[in-house]
Amino acid sequence: MAEHRKSARSASRQKAEKAHQTEALSFDFVIVGATGDLTMRKLLPAFYQRFRHGQIAATTKIIGVARSDLTVDAYRQRTVEAFREFIAPEDYDEAQATAFLQLVYYVPLDMSDKEADWNPLASQLGTEKERSRVFYVATAPRLYAQTADAIAHNGLITDTTRIVLEKPIGTDLASATAINDGVGRHFREDQIFRIDHYLGKQTVQNILALRFANPILERLWNADSIAHVRITAAETVGVGKRGPYYDTAGALRDMVQNHLLQVLSVLAMEPPPSLSATDLRDEKLKILRALRPMTHHMVHRDTVRAQYGAGMVGGKAVPGYLEDLGSDASSTETYLAIRAEIRTARWAGVPFYIRTGKRMARKETTIVVQFRPQPWAIFEGPIEPGELTIRLQPDEGVSLSLASKYPSEEGFRLKEADLNVNYAEAFKTRYPDSYEDLLMAAVRGDQVLFIRRDEVEAAWQWIEPILDGWAADARPLETYPAGSWGPESAEKLLERDGFSWKEKNQ
Ligand code: BG6
Repeated sequence: MAEHRKSARSASRQKAEKAHQTEALSFDFVIVGATGDLTMRKLLPAFYQRFRHGQIAATTKIIGVARSDLTVDAYRQRTVEAFREFIAPEDYDEAQATAFLQLVYYVPLDMSDKEADWNPLASQLGTEKERSRVFYVATAPRLYAQTADAIAHNGLITDTTRIVLEKPIGTDLASATAINDGVGRHFREDQIFRIDHYLGKQTVQNILALRFANPILERLWNADSIAHVRITAAETVGVGKRGPYYDTAGALRDMVQNHLLQVLSVLAMEPPPSLSATDLRDEKLKILRALRPMTHHMVHRDTVRAQYGAGMVGGKAVPGYLEDLGSDASSTETYLAIRAEIRTARWAGVPFYIRTGKRMARKETTIVVQFRPQPWAIFEGPIEPGELTIRLQPDEGVSLSLASKYPSEEGFRLKEADLNVNYAEAFKTRYPDSYEDLLMAAVRGDQVLFIRRDEVEAAWQWIEPILDGWAADARPLETYPAGSWGPESAEKLLERDGFSWKEKNQ
């Protein structure tokens, strides 16, 4: 009987899983900026994975477009070389890659030039009305509006055409608005897909599951139970070859305006009425708008910015930022810590600390939610407050620290012990790259994982006063040694409130 129930359950699970798998799609996907690093490292490998998993039909065309005068064969050769470099051997199958390459095309064209000869591109595109057509613009953001204009001028926008824009959307509110206006002149908002690859991360999406599918957590998810939240995005890499871009951006524009504010809004939002793109984005937007605006005084008091100097990362000596940049001077921050507040009833009085940096001690993106301590302790000695740690990457998982009786016959002593879930072990499956989900969602026209115009603009609205405050701040930029956890003053930012960045058991 039990056996019978078990097999019925597994049959229904199989049925549900099958229904969940999307059938193979056929589409035209134009990558603008097709010889760039992002295309080779992320986009084409992501498509290959989806092809390998049967989600892309053989009638699909992935058309690389760039200014270089390459033949289709030469572009396919580059693609396969990138695969060998960037796809893990266990996920790579030469025969599948060869089959996939038949879907890859190349057209030499400057797509920001509307007067160029667009016929070779136009003739590659399918003419069926329902066929989805996507332009993925991975060039410099200052070319986005011009590119949209040129696509429109050459008559390539159908009703089912979408445009995907990589970050950064602008460098401040005015430039973001100009890009949104320029692209919006030719594409409706429901045709515009602004990428934030953090939303493509399974673990970021999992915050929704953790919060809204586990009442045990959601009931505690408020100022009554939570003392503070710490979000860390630490990287061990330096700026590498991206120095010229990075030096005009800095950590605030590069990581916080987009990725970390998105993480924060998913973490803090009210439950949306549904998982539709509109409902979800409405709730995220409310959080972005509820962030307490920073006055100059607050910027001075509640932010820390610094630049990495030379140091040791992973046992290797590495140069400082200026040497990486090849410059004598720069006031660009490669690290920052911010104390933010959300003005809602749920979060009144709960600080959200955000820190991110290059050349730090370890690569890790984590969220730590610290719960309030017991109001009345019956045990002797200090009790560490409970913490929920959400590991977004690497070692994806969640742990909850619990005060426990330390086994000993010498009385009642408490010690922390962790309840730990490691998703790779729990699910025994591969973690898809964030671009796999994002690219296929753009093809399907599903905007739930993309940033709406008002979100981008609300994020800039909060970021701009920080940039202004820094510009007016006479304090010299701090430095931190590569391979450290950042400057001491970032620790002081939390100490002031009685908290610490340091993880438990450290
Ligand atoms: C990018 C930033 O958007 O995100 C990079 O421009 C940063 O500077 C990267 O390294 C971090 O992404 P991930 O997925 O490695 O956390």
